[in-house]
Amino acid sequence: MGSRFLALSRWVLIVALRVGLSSETCNAKDNSTKCTSSCGNIHNISYPFQLKHDPKHCGNVMYTLSCENNITLVVDLPPSGKYYVQAINYHNQTIRLVDPGLQNNNCSSMHQNFPPFLRDPYSAYNMSGYLLSTPVFYIKCSNPVNSSLYVDTAPCLHINASLVQQKTYSYVKVGVMEVGDLNEGCSAEWLALALLSYPNGHNTSYESVHSALMYGFDLRVYWPDEIAPICQGQWSYNLKCFPHTIPGT
Ligand SMILES: *[C@@H]1O[C@H](CO)[C@@H](O)[C@H](O)[C@H]1NC(C)=O
Ligand SMILES: *[C@@H]1O[C@H](CO)[C@@H](O)[C@H](O)[C@H]1NC(C)=O
Ligand SMILES: *[C@@H]1O[C@H](CO)[C@@H](O)[C@H](O)[C@H]1NC(C)=O
Ligand SMILES: *[C@@H]1O[C@H](CO)[C@@H](O)[C@H](O)[C@H]1NC(C)=O
Ligand SMILES: *[C@@H]1O[C@H](CO)[C@@H](O)[C@H](O)[C@H]1NC(C)=O
Ligand SMILES: *[C@@H]1O[C@H](CO)[C@@H](O)[C@H](O)[C@H]1NC(C)=O
Ligand SMILES: *[C@@H]1O[C@H](CO)[C@@H](O)[C@H](O)[C@H]1NC(C)=O
Ligand SMILES: *[C@@H]1O[C@H](CO)[C@@H](O)[C@H](O)[C@H]1NC(C)=O
Ligand SMILES: *[C@@H]1O[C@H](CO)[C@@H](O)[C@H](O)[C@H]1NC(C)=O
Repeated sequence: MGSRFLALSRWVLIVALRVGLSSETCNAKDNSTKCTSSCGNIHNISYPFQLKHDPKHCGNVMYTLSCENNITLVVDLPPSGKYYVQAINYHNQTIRLVDPGLQNNNCSSMHQNFPPFLRDPYSAYNMSGYLLSTPVFYIKCSNPVNSSLYVDTAPCLHINASLVQQKTYSYVKVGVMEVGDLNEGCSAEWLALALLSYPNGHNTSYESVHSALMYGFDLRVYWPDEIAPICQGQWSYNLKCFPHTIPGT
């Protein structure tokens, strides 16, 4: 897989272990009582998803979504925060989300939340441990960088050094980071997910990366029977359950 950011490889490891576990403890027993709710553009909210005020038998509490102002469907993934739901695909078990900090046609608007990589019953990885969406790294450099890997965020974004008010240059890099992708004097400041892919060296603008971010990113949804039953609502790892707050997440 090559060398990725330490944090990312750790997530991959955790997921690989988790997937191994859930295939062992699979018990296919779902109560798919038929209820269909709708909110905004999403007309087919059905089991295991439910809206906050739906009757209890409609879904599963782990898959609760809320409808705000009758137009926005929101999933709350603490501690990351809320996301707007753009689409639910029951066939391939994916949910497409957009960070609420991003505004259409405003490439200066930024994410409010760090992406939720693993948050039962959602995962940014598919069953084989691959990211479903492409990572987009926000990079800050002390000197201008002329690299085909880096997309200049100016004039949309300018991330200044926090302590010393020195001039900095900001870029995004689309796709996983390999060793050597981070130039000297540069640091990765933020990570986002988007459904886009193009080869290295592709000439693109930050505006087009921003529109891809507006389209959203996919998470894999694990159905109730794919999650270790005793751990529902919690992390599961090596047949043990953990509360959702894990140091370093
Ligand atoms: C599904 O849930 C409803 C309400 O809780 C219950 O009445 C029904 O018997 C359940 N069906 C199955 C197949 O478990
Ligand atoms: C809604 O989703 C259910 C599966 O949960 C599917 O059976 C049904 O055909 C879908 N309906 C529409 C209108 O997409
Ligand atoms: C929400 O929107 C639907 C369809 O536009 C409408 O039928 C319903 O009355 C609205 N509900 C509220 C609480 O505004
Ligand atoms: C899931 O299904 C949608 C629509 O059918 C498709 O566009 C998307 O590529 C699929 N995603 C995966 C990971 O297969
Ligand atoms: C665009 O987003 C930036 C950053 O959130 C904000 O300061 C600015 O007011 C927004 N512009 C418009 C026209 O909404
Ligand atoms: C996961 O994604 C990888 C890369 O896109 C793909 O090769 C693999 O078949 C996917 N696995 C599953 C179980 O969907
Ligand atoms: C950036 O690199 C390309 C190709 O290596 C070169 O053509 C271009 O002049 C460089 N631009 C700057 C501003 O140095
Ligand atoms: C960032 O630094 C530039 C150049 O020093 C300055 O003009 C700009 O106001 C700073 N922006 C913020 C948000 O501090
Ligand atoms: C990339 O595209 C921009 C705008 O279309 C153009 O000005 C620039 O010369 C292109 N750079 C390369 C290396 O093709």
